[in-house]
Amino acid sequence: MLELGAGTGRTVLPVARAGIEIDALDIAEEMRLYLTEKLQREPEHVRKKVRILAGDMTSFSLPDHYRLIQIPFRSFLHNTGPEAQLACLRQCHAHLEPGGLLAFDVFLPSEDYMSAFEGDYEGLFRTDAPYPLPDGGFLLLSEWNDYDRQAQTVRAVHRYELLARSGGIDQSLYQILDLAFLYPHDLQRLLTAAGFTDITLLSDFTDQPVGPETRDVAVMARRP
Ligand SMILES: C[S@@+](CC[C@H](N)C(=O)[O-])C[C@H]1O[C@@H](n2cnc3c(N)ncnc32)[C@H](O)[C@@H]1O
Repeated sequence: MLELGAGTGRTVLPVARAGIEIDALDIAEEMRLYLTEKLQREPEHVRKKVRILAGDMTSFSLPDHYRLIQIPFRSFLHNTGPEAQLACLRQCHAHLEPGGLLAFDVFLPSEDYMSAFEGDYEGLFRTDAPYPLPDGGFLLLSEWNDYDRQAQTVRAVHRYELLARSGGIDQSLYQILDLAFLYPHDLQRLLTAAGFTDITLLSDFTDQPVGPETRDVAVMARRP
C-alpha cells in the first residue's frame, strides 16, 4: 500500500509492524528524516516493509500500482485549491490497481463552528485542556482559525506550549497551516471527475452517514 503525506510515520509504522508493505511518501525532507530515524529503531522485519519516498502528492510518479492508497489525518487538505485536489486524486487513480481503494479523511467545519470563532472573537486563541506529560508538566495547545468561505480555505495557527511543573513555560512553538475545507458535494464531484466510483462518506470514523453534527468525513472510493 501507499501513504501520501506520511509525516513522521504515525500510521506507517503500525502498518509495517502488522506485516504489510507500505511506501511512505512525503514532500518535506525533515519529516522523511524523522521517519527514517524512527524506522532505524525498528526490528529488521519491520524496516524492510517500509520505503520512504520524496514526492508531491499532486504530481508523484511511481512504478508500482497499489491495492490501497491512504491519506490520513486530513493531509489531503494541504491541497488548497480545486486544481491541486483534482491533480492529487488523478495521481491516486493512476497508481491504484483496478478495484483498488483510496481512503482519506477531511474535516468538515459547520457554519456554527466557523462563526463561533469569528467576529468579536477574531484573533483570540482557543485553548484545549492541558495534556499531562510524564515528567509532571503539561502540553497546552491553542489554536486560531481564519476561514475564507469563498475560497474554502482556513489559515490555522497552532500554538504549543510546554509547561513545567513549576508553571513556567519551557518551550513555545507556533505552526501556521493553510488548509482547504471541503463539503460532501465537493468530494463527490472531485472523486467522480478523477474517475472514482463506489464513493462512501462516513461520519467521524463511525459507520454512520455524514450529518449535521459531523466534524470529520472518512472518504473511501474505488478505481473501477
Ligand atoms: C498532518 S501531517 C500527517 C502525517 C501522517 N499521515 C499522520 O497521519 O500522522 C501532513 C503531512 O503531509 C505532508 N504534505 C503536505 N503537503 C504535501 C504534498 N503536496 N505532498 C506530499 N506530502 C505533503 C506534510 O509534510 C506532512 O508531513
